Amino acid sequence: MSQATSKPSSAGLFITFEGLDGSGKTTQLRLLGDALRADGYRVVALRQPGGTPLGDRIRSILLDSRSDADLGAIAPEAELALMFADRAQSLREVILPGLADGCVVLCDRYTDSSEAYQGAGRRLGSDRVLTLHQAVCNNLQPNLTILLLPPLATALRRARSRNDRHSRQIGSDESRFEAENDEFYARVYEQYLKIARRDSDRVVVFRGEGSIASIQKLILDVVRERLAAAGLTGAP
Ligand code: ADP
Ligand code: TYD
Repeated sequence: MSQATSKPSSAGLFITFEGLDGSGKTTQLRLLGDALRADGYRVVALRQPGGTPLGDRIRSILLDSRSDADLGAIAPEAELALMFADRAQSLREVILPGLADGCVVLCDRYTDSSEAYQGAGRRLGSDRVLTLHQAVCNNLQPNLTILLLPPLATALRRARSRNDRHSRQIGSDESRFEAENDEFYARVYEQYLKIARRDSDRVVVFRGEGSIASIQKLILDVVRERLAAAGLTGAP
């Protein structure tokens, strides 16, 4: 589906992190945030779903593996609509004000996740997702998307062991998606590659199994280049 995209017209820079569960997004987002703050940038960081009080409620419904038993099987279309309800709220409460204020906004997942997981994983199709993106997000695209794509098996192994650790330590259960089968995740992976080919100016892909530190350095180089191109400098 081809649509005019809207770029943030504001003073800040909108950067999203994408990839499979366990690909290292949260780790790299935190490290990038620390590095940019040390350079004097003002940074706003959030995740989707989540990042607002409403979003946190939506997150607990969508990620808790007990939800399908408690609420009845969640329809794929309901799942998609809830992802966009969360996104609408965080755009209004966090992302747009941060950009207007000249901040670097770092978001752990955005509409590419809906296209990959609901569009391809749940087989709802990209057109439906992109139509909602137009209607709900005014088609706002990130300035830059960091797509982390280690091999599928590596990402899932890391995500499942992290979730086991969290459920033992803090009793949280966020494993509803990780319980999906390998075919689901293969479709998600392929869709991410398609998005990267289609939106090659926006999406920078990091494949392979590099160390946390080596990937961090590559990401920082790309981001510093984009900040300079956008004329954004940190505090003196
Ligand atoms: P995501 O947010 O994409 O689900 P996380 O950043 O939470 O991924 O990482 C999942 C797990 O994998 C964590 O335990 C993290 O320490 C580990 N991890 C992240 N990046 C790497 C890497 N490049 N090599 C090895 N382990 C990693
Ligand atoms: P999260 O813990 O934030 O990601 P990760 O496991 O990579 O650290 O979990 C978010 C889950 O929600 C993840 O499995 C992907 C899924 N998701 C969608 O299916 N569609 C979406 O639009 C978004 C934002 C997330």
